[in-house]
Amino acid sequence: MSKPKALVTRPLFPAARAILDHHFDAEYWMPPERIPRAELLKRVAEKDALVCLLTEKVDEELLAASPKLRVAATVSVGYDNIDVPACTRHKVVAANTPGVLDETTADFAWTLLMAVARRLVEGDAWMRSGTWPGWDLDQLLGGDVWGKTLGIVGFGRIGRGLARRAQGFQMRVLYHDANRAALEVERELRAEFAGLDQLLGESDFVSLHVPLLPETRHLLSAAAFDKMKRTAYLINTSRGPVVDEAALAAALEEKKIAGAALDVYEHEPKVNPALIARKDVILAPHIASATIDTRTNMAVVAATNAAAVFEGRRPPNALNADALGL
Ligand code: GLV
Repeated sequence: MSKPKALVTRPLFPAARAILDHHFDAEYWMPPERIPRAELLKRVAEKDALVCLLTEKVDEELLAASPKLRVAATVSVGYDNIDVPACTRHKVVAANTPGVLDETTADFAWTLLMAVARRLVEGDAWMRSGTWPGWDLDQLLGGDVWGKTLGIVGFGRIGRGLARRAQGFQMRVLYHDANRAALEVERELRAEFAGLDQLLGESDFVSLHVPLLPETRHLLSAAAFDKMKRTAYLINTSRGPVVDEAALAAALEEKKIAGAALDVYEHEPKVNPALIARKDVILAPHIASATIDTRTNMAVVAATNAAAVFEGRRPPNALNADALGL
């Protein structure tokens, strides 16, 4: 019996390929550049499964172009690239990769927080320029981290991971989320629930961990920056459009906040030129989950999600399992 056909938009890693090759007649997109949209639409047309990245949009157009498709598995936890209701309408299982990247992403948010507060990237550039004159008392003075207040916006697995890290730095932790956490969780993580305005007004560091939804688009806008402390830093490892980049650049220029460290951008791969020009901003290339182990695990989870559909199992991370009656 012939195997179902899969389109995989990256070569992935051997462990994930082993799963895919076992279950599917898999076609991998091998060129180093991202798969162009027209190629994606052409190649997915006769496929039963799609394993894609967050850079590929699974929307009405793609679903209409792939009538045999039964599963679209993204190798990411964020799934704003997938129109889940459209998948449901087309009876396509949509799946993501939660659970395997939380600690790694929290590590990186912490890395950015420390680096922006202590001006590490500026220091590195100075050393490489060959112009450092030697130690002096007032060089690259940054902000303290220990004992300060951390405001976590979005208190899911990654936000909670950040709260755990903050305990080691004797920080006060405020969090804001659409749903308040259970009291045991608040107690264990020593985190206080706060309204967004209170969190913005009291935090020395504001770190974003919300998914991109209509309600979270431009959550951090000019009005939000007006509420933040002038000494505060913004860290974003969630999704770029959660922050209004033009408003962020203006807030930095007007010294309404002290700095920002970003891993994600409003219009990836473009970065607002006003941010590129600034020394008080750290710019990372969307690498919060980029460790060998974690990216491998993410690819394995996505492959497993895709394979499950053809084994008659409920895919472990189906986003529309209930809607499809799985
Ligand atoms: C990365 O941004 C992810 O959503 O996994």
